[in-house]
Amino acid sequence: MKKSICLSFLGLKGGSGKTIISTNIAYVLASAGNKVLVIDADPQGNATLTLSPKNKKDPGLFYPAMNEFLLDRGIGALDVIVTDTIDQNIHLLPNNLRAAQAALRIEPLVAIGQVMKRLQPIMQNYDYVIFDGRPEDAGLFINLAMICSDYVIVPIDGTYGASSLSALLDLIDDMKNWNAKLELLGVVLNHWMPQRIQAKQLKEYLKAQYPEVYVFNQTIPTSEQIRRTQVMGRTLPVVIGESISPSFKKLAKEIIKTIESREKEKNDQNTYLY
Ligand SMILES: Nc1ncnc2c1ncn2[C@@H]1O[C@H](COP(=O)(O)OP(=O)(O)O)[C@@H](O)[C@H]1O
Ligand SMILES: [Mg+2]
Repeated sequence: MKKSICLSFLGLKGGSGKTIISTNIAYVLASAGNKVLVIDADPQGNATLTLSPKNKKDPGLFYPAMNEFLLDRGIGALDVIVTDTIDQNIHLLPNNLRAAQAALRIEPLVAIGQVMKRLQPIMQNYDYVIFDGRPEDAGLFINLAMICSDYVIVPIDGTYGASSLSALLDLIDDMKNWNAKLELLGVVLNHWMPQRIQAKQLKEYLKAQYPEVYVFNQTIPTSEQIRRTQVMGRTLPVVIGESISPSFKKLAKEIIKTIESREKEKNDQNTYLY
């Protein structure tokens, strides 16, 4: 049986492209026939907005959503997961601003334990589970995403550079105490304008400062089309038809390839150990 892979798109900076990239990668994977569950781990509800059907373009309209799932132990994953999304292979655990309040009121570790108990059994039903994270430090949602995930992908805004990457790497290291399988898969350079001198400097900086960090070869350019689709609450392919943006398609391929080689490395290590 194919293993279910859980990916988190995280970063400590808002606006770096977590939602744009995670929702478009989810769409590319789903179009290739994979069953994908997107967990919107940001009460801003941007992924919810992007992936929800045309008649439900307000994250606040979903009930029950993440808020109810966090607070009410009687709500199972199947009660909260939405199957009517922009693609039949994408299911969505919706979020909205009500969950921001809940996150302040509840004990994070208890909440994470409760949520995992109800979430983990159904994660196996999907080829990929994708968390769209929020820019917080040690908050409930980033912890939840990291405790469930196999791999973290960090989009970096190519214009502003790698601010907070070291802090995020420390957080991932810390989190390995609770989830030993957690690994950084790599960094995606978003808003990529290779002709800019800062772009070259950023690549060199990452190589020198974080030699152990994989930087995806495929970058995402700044594009008016990308910006417009999010304003409309859509993924790129839904707006521009069949021609899925080549950069997302290529990035998805590279993500899958990188996961395969990491999984192989892990298997080889296990064979060696036992
Ligand atoms: N490559 C890009 N080209 C154009 N606009 C982008 C691009 N990446 C992100 N944006 C815009 O920047 C804003 C932040 O992106 P988003 O994916 O929501 O970031 P995050 O989820 O990390 O906060 C959005 O308005 C989005 O439309
Ligand atoms: Mg976002």
